[in-house]
Amino acid sequence: MKELDALRSELMTAVKDAAGLDELEQIRVSALGKKGRITGLMRGLGAMNPEARKEAGQALNALKNEVAEAIEAKKRTSADSELDARLTGERVDVTLPVRPESQGCIHPISQTIDEVVAILGEMEFSVAEGPDIEDDWHNFTALNIPPDHPARQEHDTFYLPGSGDDDRLVLRTHTSPVQIRTMMETKPPIRIIVPGRTYRCDYDATHSPMFHQVEGLVVDESTHMGHLKGCLIEFCRAFFDMDDLPVRFRPSYFPFTEPSAEVDIGCTREGGEFRIGHGDDWLEILGCGMVNPKVLENCNIDPAKYQGFAFGLGIERMAMLKYGIPDLRTFFESDLRWLRHYGFSAFQVPSMVGGL
Ligand code: PHE
Repeated sequence: MKELDALRSELMTAVKDAAGLDELEQIRVSALGKKGRITGLMRGLGAMNPEARKEAGQALNALKNEVAEAIEAKKRTSADSELDARLTGERVDVTLPVRPESQGCIHPISQTIDEVVAILGEMEFSVAEGPDIEDDWHNFTALNIPPDHPARQEHDTFYLPGSGDDDRLVLRTHTSPVQIRTMMETKPPIRIIVPGRTYRCDYDATHSPMFHQVEGLVVDESTHMGHLKGCLIEFCRAFFDMDDLPVRFRPSYFPFTEPSAEVDIGCTREGGEFRIGHGDDWLEILGCGMVNPKVLENCNIDPAKYQGFAFGLGIERMAMLKYGIPDLRTFFESDLRWLRHYGFSAFQVPSMVGGL
């Protein structure tokens, strides 16, 4: 009994003085764990005679409960005080100024594509896509540009190594091959636009080896030049947000359209200053024409039944004109100061959607 009293006071003092949850756990294991001191004493009960065992058993049980309760009680207060200590130590200083958040913006190319797609989308064109790596047939031959055609030289094509001469792979020089892919896959009526990357081996203030175009293609039974003109005049005026923007069609040549035209918009150039709108000068902005019957035939569409019109415009050029960007190469230099200056807020509605 004396032994137990000594053990009790030793353990209770240890519990009282314990500094934290870890220490309490150590005390619990050393007294009540499998190899603990109280557990050891309980194991010794078996060797006692029944009389002594009963008495010692009761005393040991009482001690065990007392110690266990004392540890639990102390654990609770320790946990509370540890939490209190953390809460005071880690208090948030709400008076600190907020950290500046860097905000991205929309690249003028993405913005311009969005605007073009929004306008033509309103005219019920749907968006189609095709691969950047094309074969010679889709990029040239099917578009009525045979191997010895001079137009091939004008395209400054990037040819991919390792492909045979007959059907070489190229980086597409325009989005027009998607006209072919669409006509091969779907039957008229067709009404698509194709925004995408295009490639030509060229580099100066108005050319970059990678640039963007938007192609348009309409094929139906009664499509005619009046539809082409109406659609593009409407488009130009919506894009430049000018209801009375002068637009003219000038005869031109593309192997895949017949007749072909280039579209000019009115502008003024005075003393180095350039302005879109009324004036005595013209600026070329896109190529277009009625789909050449040979191209329809190449895609197994009967030219006696169907006609179509097509157009292609350069996104960088449109963006440069609309937003006054003087050098095309800067689009792809990733200069953050340039991007912040010419970029668009992600929360701003594209101007023409509001105007449509
Ligand atoms: N593919 C032509 C180019 O890249 C543009 C164009 C497309 C012209 C469709 C007429 C019809 O220059």
